[in-house]
Amino acid sequence: MQIDRDSFLATLGGDHAARSMSAEARADALDRFLLAQLNAPPSGARTLGASTGTETLRRGSGVLFGDGRTRPVELAPMPERPTLLDFFRLRSTFGVVRHLLQSADDARRAGAGEHEILACLLHDFGQALLRVDHGWWSAQLVEPYVAEEVTFAIRYHQALRFFPDESVGYHYPELYVRIFGEGYVPEPYIVAAYEYARSHRWYMAARMVTVHDLYAFDPDRRVELDPFIEIIERNFRQPPEGLGFDASPVAHMWRSLIFPDHPL
Ligand SMILES: [Fe+2]
Ligand SMILES: [Fe+2]
Repeated sequence: MQIDRDSFLATLGGDHAARSMSAEARADALDRFLLAQLNAPPSGARTLGASTGTETLRRGSGVLFGDGRTRPVELAPMPERPTLLDFFRLRSTFGVVRHLLQSADDARRAGAGEHEILACLLHDFGQALLRVDHGWWSAQLVEPYVAEEVTFAIRYHQALRFFPDESVGYHYPELYVRIFGEGYVPEPYIVAAYEYARSHRWYMAARMVTVHDLYAFDPDRRVELDPFIEIIERNFRQPPEGLGFDASPVAHMWRSLIFPDHPL
């Protein structure tokens, strides 16, 4: 690989400035430099053009990483062997945690079983990592540690929220009319996911997440995590090595939440 060392060092402010940087910061800078070299579009390719500073920025990553406009939240260090509770307390934003607690509380007050309450408590947690297709990301994040029914409920709530079910009093939310517009038709993969879930034996598990979801946006309601700690202990298989360090297929996802500022 050809790297013009002088040009690279110049982007860092010279040799002296480069020496004062940490190895991680240098690795990051080198990565940006190499990608910038690759970024020249092929001839004829259409680009989005230069930023005007006023357009809506693309939101590919989760709330923990900032929205591209405001400074990301400052993060406290995590314990060596982090538990799910540590992630609730130290690695999610206040708004998401309040929403999750309110929806789990709604399920608890309605007399739901523990799987349903846990699904509500975790249904949007993946938004800390990634917002696009958040049902799938949130489900995958916890898949090795919870009952299959819980994962199913979390995964399919994303698609089901666009489809009413009068049998449980779930109407198409007014909020979605405002967000997605009148007459919005979800994408084919969302419709396919809905149809699959609709005839699945765990359909109601996912459906009830959408029901409790609607009652979980109250700015004046405080719900504590304490009433759910025992439910988590009974239904979430906490790995002894800590989430992120158990070599599971999703360990890297938890690590990304622990160290969102790590280089590549
Ligand atoms: Fe959701
Ligand atoms: Fe939600």
